Amino acid sequence: MTGIVGWYILIFLHFLENYQFVLAAGNGSVVVTFHNIHNILNSNELVLLSFYTDWCRFSQLLQPVFEEAATEIHREFPEPGRVVLGRVDCDEEEDVANRFDITKYPTLKVARNGFVANKEYRGQRSVQAFVKFVEKELSDPIKEFTSIRVLKRAEAGDGLVVGYFENKLHPEYDTYRRAASLLRYECRYMAGFGNFTINLRPPGKNLLIFRADASTANHRDYYSEYSGNMTDFKDVANWIEEKCKPLVRELTFDNAEEFSEEGLPFVILFYNKHDMGPIQEFKAVVQSVLAKEKRVNFLSANGKLFIHPLFHMGKTLNDLPLIAIDSFRHMYSFPRFEDIHQPGKLQEFINDLFSGKLHIDFHRALEENEVKKIDPEHFPPVAHESKFKELLPSKHRYTLINRTRDEL
Ligand SMILES: *[C@@H]1O[C@H](CO)[C@@H](O)[C@H](O)[C@H]1NC(C)=O
Ligand SMILES: *[C@@H]1O[C@H](CO)[C@@H](O)[C@H](O)[C@H]1NC(C)=O
Ligand SMILES: *[C@@H]1O[C@H](CO)[C@@H](O)[C@H](O)[C@H]1NC(C)=O
Ligand SMILES: *[C@@H]1O[C@H](CO)[C@@H](O)[C@H](O)[C@H]1NC(C)=O
Repeated sequence: MTGIVGWYILIFLHFLENYQFVLAAGNGSVVVTFHNIHNILNSNELVLLSFYTDWCRFSQLLQPVFEEAATEIHREFPEPGRVVLGRVDCDEEEDVANRFDITKYPTLKVARNGFVANKEYRGQRSVQAFVKFVEKELSDPIKEFTSIRVLKRAEAGDGLVVGYFENKLHPEYDTYRRAASLLRYECRYMAGFGNFTINLRPPGKNLLIFRADASTANHRDYYSEYSGNMTDFKDVANWIEEKCKPLVRELTFDNAEEFSEEGLPFVILFYNKHDMGPIQEFKAVVQSVLAKEKRVNFLSANGKLFIHPLFHMGKTLNDLPLIAIDSFRHMYSFPRFEDIHQPGKLQEFINDLFSGKLHIDFHRALEENEVKKIDPEHFPPVAHESKFKELLPSKHRYTLINRTRDEL
């Protein structure tokens, strides 16, 4: 999996020939199979897919809710090609389930114009929540600006993509709109049309730019122009994803499951919300020397919200800021926050995780403690049981199935 969103591109070429709109027959959800999935995904702007099995009790609970939601959504968005709710019986459709790497039931995936986002629907399983979700997904993520003044006032903040177009009916705008819809949560989007943008784009052409507020130090680039093919959906979307992805993301209870399921060890800065300076320091270090480190997830976390893992490491709010790695097996704390400014220190700490050195040191410290009974003041050493593995998809919400996964 690459990037925060990433996607599967479904190429069932041999089904391309009998291409047609697939509509919800009646009002409920559509039965999705290996044979119709290509058509369904490609002929609808939005598809919400439920991967389930009949024997999973969470799937059983979801089923009537999903049907009622489908009816409700069908009533609200009856136009063909707009939105469909589909269900995949994973016992019947093993090929489809495998292709989507389903590891838990029910899994709710979101697809747009044939592209399936890695980001899943993880919200409440209620009719109202599904309807709200679909309404939001179908809303236009792009804000139109009608003067340069408005554009100038728009703050780039954590990332803004701006499009300058000859007119709104241009196919290149349609490509931008579809890509922005798929990546609606990753950035903010604006677009301007017509003559007043003429000095902002190459003569006779359209242009996409990305900008971020330099003071947030959380991206690889602060300014960038798209130089690829403006009608190539995949290219445009990849560019947006690459530019908008922040280097350090904020961990919350809402996104913890999703981040955990990405499978990369967490490098977390626990901060005190009364002292936000360390976040900027951390972001600046990641931006300047660790922007290419792809083996871990860099996160920041409000220590007050995540007090439990802190206690678990023998720390309190007074010990913040604190950096720790959670490998989903163990937690290791970085000895001194200030050392992030020493060249190579944080990288070395991460390398030590992957070489196994942190793990070995941990066991050595444990053994020495057995032998010498180290003064508890100087214990615990740097390692503890992982706390963040508890944030992985819960068996109280899903039936988890076995798939092997590399662990450290
Ligand atoms: C859809 O539901 C409505 C109201 O429940 C019903 O009147 C209508 O016949 C249904 N349409 C189909 C095609 O099943
Ligand atoms: C845009 O500018 C061109 C050339 O100056 C002019 O011919 C055209 O009418 C303008 N279009 C609009 C919508 O103002
Ligand atoms: C741009 O992308 C579109 C869609 O993929 C393709 O049809 C077109 O040939 C491409 N144009 C160029 C100049 O490569
Ligand atoms: C899951 O995998 C573990 C380890 O490979 C194995 O011991 C266990 O029996 C498996 N469980 C199921 C339900 O397949």
